[in-house]
Amino acid sequence: MKIGIDKIGFYTPHLYVDMNRLAERRGVDPAKFTIGIGQEKMAVPPITQDSVTLAANAALEILDEADKEQIDFVIFGTESGIDSSKSAAVYVHELLGLNPYARAIEVKQACYGATAGIQMAKGHIALNPESKVLVLGSDIARYGLDTPGEATQGAGAVAMVISANPRVLELEEQSVYFTADIMDFWRPVYSDEAFVDGKLSNEQYISFFSKVWDQYKAKTGLDLDDFEAICYHLPYTKMGMKALRTVIEEAPEDVQERLKANYKISTGYNRNVGNIYTGALYLSFLSLIEKNEELAAGARIGMFSYGSGAVGEFFTGILREGYREHLHVNNHSKLFASRKEVSVDEYEKIFSETLPVQGETVKFNIDSDPAAICLSGMEENKRLYVNKTK
Ligand code: HMG
Repeated sequence: MKIGIDKIGFYTPHLYVDMNRLAERRGVDPAKFTIGIGQEKMAVPPITQDSVTLAANAALEILDEADKEQIDFVIFGTESGIDSSKSAAVYVHELLGLNPYARAIEVKQACYGATAGIQMAKGHIALNPESKVLVLGSDIARYGLDTPGEATQGAGAVAMVISANPRVLELEEQSVYFTADIMDFWRPVYSDEAFVDGKLSNEQYISFFSKVWDQYKAKTGLDLDDFEAICYHLPYTKMGMKALRTVIEEAPEDVQERLKANYKISTGYNRNVGNIYTGALYLSFLSLIEKNEELAAGARIGMFSYGSGAVGEFFTGILREGYREHLHVNNHSKLFASRKEVSVDEYEKIFSETLPVQGETVKFNIDSDPAAICLSGMEENKRLYVNKTK
């Protein structure tokens, strides 16, 4: 049975800050951010968006009534969840009106959560071929104002329907995964912002890639020539290239050129959104398949997933016949075109807004947020959500 990605949707908030302006304000050469790090624009989430609403908005784009009936498992990968107990998946399940005879859980391992979700979904579909699984990767990346990590913040979500006979990407059987206890990036429960050892995190990302790639080659006998493209978890767009460079010379010149060209295309959306942690690898995959119109059905795409702490995995998929007909390219062009730039002052103000922590009641003006699904306020320590389409 073929199992894989049947549908893929995406959402990012309607506000962004320009990295050139941010660099100027921080007294940094703008080329450091746009070339050295590789980011043009950074999504800025208003107070009316959190990891739940971002994910629900991404899923709203792709689900039809049949999906809502057939989905019996919602797996929400996040590291910016809103509750230590109740899963974000339960809120999304309600906001989207999914079949109540479903499981809904949250999965955490830094940026690896959605990949764990996909692998779990694959097993679920193998046992229940008629069902569908909604896998969400949704996050708000926060390091703090004027920190080295600031230029690698972002916000957004990717939603995927995993099913039998998928229409976008068939997941292949072989994959290699690796775990080691490393303090490269972490966020204690008392902190809204991540702690990071930037240099160590870059080194470990590359070291994990090298470990899983070497093992993958040994296990499958496949090589770089067998890949049309490799998509990477992209905390910033230079990162995947640093990893690709460590292996690219294993391939003949023409394959090197192809992989580099496709890598560049695969960074397009991420360059304009920033790090979305669990969704970042899948946003890169989306950039590739939506922006490279030449990618033929049958092409093998490699995927390197990395979640600090750390877990890495290399897995692969094959593009399905007619996959382009099931993409939402125009929606995404409109989403990017309709975003509004905020000044660095406005970004800093939005960044500093927080939700009440003592049970106070607040109401937000959701008319200023064009998203269909918004956080409208809080009451008695409960977040209140609105789906404007209902
Ligand atoms: P930094 O120390 O400010 O930057 O932080 P730098 O001094 O290392 O410079 C960055 C690059 O810009 C360098 O290029 C410079 O040469 C270049 P590189 O040597 O790396 O190729 N540069 C310039 N280029 C052109 N013109 C100039 C110029 N000046 C300098 N004028 C760092 C950078 C990424 C470390 C920081 O932003 C950070 O800590 N970010 C967060 C951590 C991170 O993203 N780590 C990535 C790997 S870990 C991961 O992916 C997991 C993660 O997503 C979390 C999870 O799993 O949940 C983060």
